[in-house]
Amino acid sequence: MENRAFGSHAYDYPALKYMLGIANSITTVATVDGRIVGYASIFFRKNSKISHLESIAVDPEFQNAGIGGMLMDEVERISLEMNCSLIVLETFEKNVSALKLYERSGFKAKEVVQDYYHIPFDGSRNAIRFEKRIK
Ligand SMILES: CC(C)(COP(=O)(O)OP(=O)(O)OC[C@H]1O[C@@H](n2cnc3c(N)ncnc32)[C@H](O)[C@@H]1OP(=O)(O)O)[C@@H](O)C(=O)NCCC(=O)NCCS
Repeated sequence: MENRAFGSHAYDYPALKYMLGIANSITTVATVDGRIVGYASIFFRKNSKISHLESIAVDPEFQNAGIGGMLMDEVERISLEMNCSLIVLETFEKNVSALKLYERSGFKAKEVVQDYYHIPFDGSRNAIRFEKRIK
């Protein structure tokens, strides 16, 4: 699913295993008939009220059906439960579907981070950093 959703930008198996396994991360999944069709991974830091949405993806077969929006609602609920007051995330400045998802979920674009990524997406390695205050 990761490969289908992200193509050349997908995390490889060791990176996914790390993301799922470290103690200060929570991954929530969306399932249809028992099959994982989407996930969101959130990182937390000790003594910090900021949660970081590390990755979110929906299987291309199941996109544009509201699953991304539901995962974002879960990210917010989990962050609140973890006593965070701010969610931060970065995305490629040319990733239109992600930009729309975050704006629709109430996130505000805060800054452009130059050359944030190693591999370009649509010719750009820049990220936009988004934030949402949740309490
Ligand atoms: C970004 C991503 C997670 C969005 O997931 P998604 O499940 O398609 O998101 P949603 O379905 O909630 O929203 C997508 C669109 O479907 C629309 N939609 C939501 N529910 C709908 C429904 N029931 N019927 C029809 N359309 C619907 C939304 O309004 C939205 O429209 P818009 O593009 O005009 O804003 C997905 O495109 C993806 O996995 N991309 C590849 C990985 C990626 O880039 N991840 C982000 C990295 S930072």
